[in-house]
Amino acid sequence: MKKNLDLFAHKSKNWDIDSTRVRNAKEISDIILKNIKLNSSMELIDLGAGTGLLTYFIAPYVRKITAIDNSPSMLEEFIDKQAEFGCKTEVLAANIMIDDIKIKADGIISSMTMHHIEDIEALFFKLFNMLNKGGFIALADLDSEDGSFHSDNDGVYHHGFDRKMLADIAKKAGFKNIIFETANIIEKPHRNFSVFTMIAQKV
Ligand SMILES: C[S@@+](CC[C@H](N)C(=O)[O-])C[C@H]1O[C@@H](n2cnc3c(N)ncnc32)[C@H](O)[C@@H]1O
Repeated sequence: MKKNLDLFAHKSKNWDIDSTRVRNAKEISDIILKNIKLNSSMELIDLGAGTGLLTYFIAPYVRKITAIDNSPSMLEEFIDKQAEFGCKTEVLAANIMIDDIKIKADGIISSMTMHHIEDIEALFFKLFNMLNKGGFIALADLDSEDGSFHSDNDGVYHHGFDRKMLADIAKKAGFKNIIFETANIIEKPHRNFSVFTMIAQKV
């Protein structure tokens, strides 16, 4: 993805109006809360946090969430809602694949961002290095699809993901205890799309 192009500039203002997106974030957060013991001393990163839909549902259970996103317009919406989040939040306008991100976290959560990142293997190695020992990733995205989920595939590098392929990459990066759960089915007029949440640990 080009460094300074805000691909979400035309979508950010109305992002949260779509109830499908809000429900998707809620379903993903339910899977995270079911599988991971969060606590009020934890500091998390929400990768590709956008307007903060996933942050909102996870915030009441942790100390702090840092929203990393390379779309200034999406982060503006996040900042507008900062008072509503149930924990301390910070924003970091950065491209995870280009910028040198120095912070470490107890967990990295993410919703619908991976398909915008070309080099998934490099991503998993980065995420592993950004975690404290004992930390977790909880990453949600589409299962493999036919390319018809987005009406415009600009900035979309993957038409969903094969779970086994992701698990193999995560293992290679050093992650253990890898599990997948189906979090949600997104219904569109022409077909349905399933969304997984992948959870893994840095032990
Ligand atoms: C489909 S949106 C999802 C937003 C939010 N997580 C949600 O579920 O509503 C993907 C987000 O990932 C961000 N993103 C894409 N590639 C990124 C990268 N390389 N580094 C940081 N953020 C990125 C986009 O700017 C966008 O806000």
